[in-house]
Amino acid sequence: MDFELKTLTRARICSEKCDALLVLIPQDLSPADDPLSALAALAIKSGDFEAKPGKLLGTYRTPDIAATRVLLVGVGDGSPKNIRAAVTAGFAALKTSNAKRAVLCLSALDKPSPEVVRAAVVASSEATYSYSTTKSKAAPAKLQRIVVAVNEVASVKAGFDKGVGLVQGIEFAKEWGNRPANHATPTLLAGAAKELGKLANIKVDVLGPKEVAKLGMGSFMAVAQGTAEPLRFIVLRYEGAAKAAAPVVLIGKGITFDTGGISIKPAAEMDEMKFDMCGAASVLGTFRALAELQPALNVVGLIPACENMPGERAIKPGDVVTSMSGQTIEILNTDAEGRLVLCDALTYAARFKPKAVVDIATLTGACVIALGGVRSGLFSSNDALAQSLADAGESSLDLCWRMPLDDEYADGLKSNFADVANVAGRAGGSVTAAKFLQRFAADFPWAHLDIAGTAWKGGAAKGATGRPVPLLVDYLLSQVVPPVSGKVPSKAKRITKSKPAAKTRA
Ligand code: BES
Ligand code: MN
Ligand code: ZN
Repeated sequence: MDFELKTLTRARICSEKCDALLVLIPQDLSPADDPLSALAALAIKSGDFEAKPGKLLGTYRTPDIAATRVLLVGVGDGSPKNIRAAVTAGFAALKTSNAKRAVLCLSALDKPSPEVVRAAVVASSEATYSYSTTKSKAAPAKLQRIVVAVNEVASVKAGFDKGVGLVQGIEFAKEWGNRPANHATPTLLAGAAKELGKLANIKVDVLGPKEVAKLGMGSFMAVAQGTAEPLRFIVLRYEGAAKAAAPVVLIGKGITFDTGGISIKPAAEMDEMKFDMCGAASVLGTFRALAELQPALNVVGLIPACENMPGERAIKPGDVVTSMSGQTIEILNTDAEGRLVLCDALTYAARFKPKAVVDIATLTGACVIALGGVRSGLFSSNDALAQSLADAGESSLDLCWRMPLDDEYADGLKSNFADVANVAGRAGGSVTAAKFLQRFAADFPWAHLDIAGTAWKGGAAKGATGRPVPLLVDYLLSQVVPPVSGKVPSKAKRITKSKPAAKTRA
C-alpha cells in the first residue's frame, strides 16, 4: 500500500477527486459550513449516523463532493484505539467496492496527535492487506493508494512516518508468517534475512549445520536432526549507534513447521504449525521497520530456524542432549522443541554483551488458554525491562500481560537423567516453559514474549497478524537516548534510504 500525507481542510477535501473518501467523525464534531460537514451534521441530526467508533454511513455521488463514494465513520473520542476500530470498519466496508485511490480524512478531528495518525496508517494497512504469494491468479489488490488528509502536516509528520515504517515491518512479518512451510524453509527464511542485509545499516550472517555444530548448539541441532531440511542460524545486526553502545538482542523462534516430532501432534489444525516461525518473522519485520526508521541504536536479531519432524534420525522421548551452555537436557516431549532451539540462541546472545535480550516465540498452547488472542504473554525477571515492554505494548496497541516466574514453577522441570527436563506437567505450561528459558538467560536482563495466541488468527480469517512487531518497534524506539541538544544528530538519523549503509559511524 502507498501512503501519502497531505494538508486538506474539510472545505478543500470536498473538491478532492478520489474513488473513496473516508471521513472520521468525532463525537465533538465542530460545526462548519462546507458540504461535508453539513452532510455529517444532517446525518447525525436525523438519527441516521452516530459518531460512535466504527459506526458507518455511506453515500454515492453526493452533490458538491467530488469523491465518488463518501463514508462517514464514527471515532468517538478519537483515541488511537477508536481510530483503529473506525479505520478497520471503514476499509472493511470498502472491500467489495472498486475503489483504487482512497482519501482518509482526519481533518474533522481537533488537532490529531502523531499517535492518532500512526494508528490510522497501521490500521489502514491491517484492513487492506491481502496475501497472494502462493496463489496462481492473485486477485490484484484494488486499493492502491491511501492519502491521509489532515489540517496541518507538520505536527503529525513524525507519527505518519513511524506508521509507514511500521507497516513495512508488519507486512514483511505477515508475508513470511503466512507462507506455507514448503515456501518458507529455514534456507528461504535466511534468504529473506539476507535481502534485509541490503538495506541501510543492516548486516546479516547465516550459519549452517557445520558452524552450528562447531558452536556446540547440541540442543538446537537435536530438534533439526529429524528432517532432511538443513537448519539455519540467522544473525542480523542493525547498527544505528556507536559501536560501543550495547545492543538489544531479539531472538525469534523459527520452527518453520512443527509436527511435534515423535511426540506427534493430532491432525486437526496441524497446518497452523506453519506459523511456528512467527517469532522469527517478527524479528525480520522489526529489522525491516528499523531500516525505514533508522533510529540511533544497535540491535541484534538471532533466529534459530529448523523444522520439527519425525524421522529415522529424529530425537526420541528420553534422549539427553547437551546445550551450548553445557547444561544437559532430557527431552521428555519432542513437541516442546521451541525452548530447545531458543536456549542455545540465548547462550549465543551473551557474546554481544547485550543491554537486554528479548525472545519472541509461539511457545505454548497453554499461553493461548491463559490469555487468548488479545494479549501476548510477557515473562521477565527484570522489572524495568518488563515495564518498558508493557508500556510499548500499550502505546502501540499491541498488548501483552506480565506473567509470574516464581521459582516453584520450575519444580516440575527436574530430571533424574539430566540437569533439566524440557517439560513439566500440564499445569502452568506457559510459565514452566519460561522457567526453562530463564536458566539460559542468567547473564543479562531478559524477557520472553509468548505469542502463541497473538501471532496468527485461525478460522475464516486465518493468517498471520504481524504481532508483536508494533510492540517491539515501540520498545526499541523507547531505548533511543535523546541527543544532547546542540549535538549533531547521529549518522543513522541523517542517512537517506537510497544510500548504502554507512561504513563509519559517529
Ligand atoms: N508450537 C507449539 C505451541 C503452540 C501450540 C502454539 C498450539 C500455538 C498453538 C509448541 O512447540 C508446542 O508444541 N508446545 C507444547 C508444549 C508441551 C509439549 C509441553 C504445547 O503447548 O502443547
Ligand atoms: Mn511443538
Ligand atoms: Zn513449536
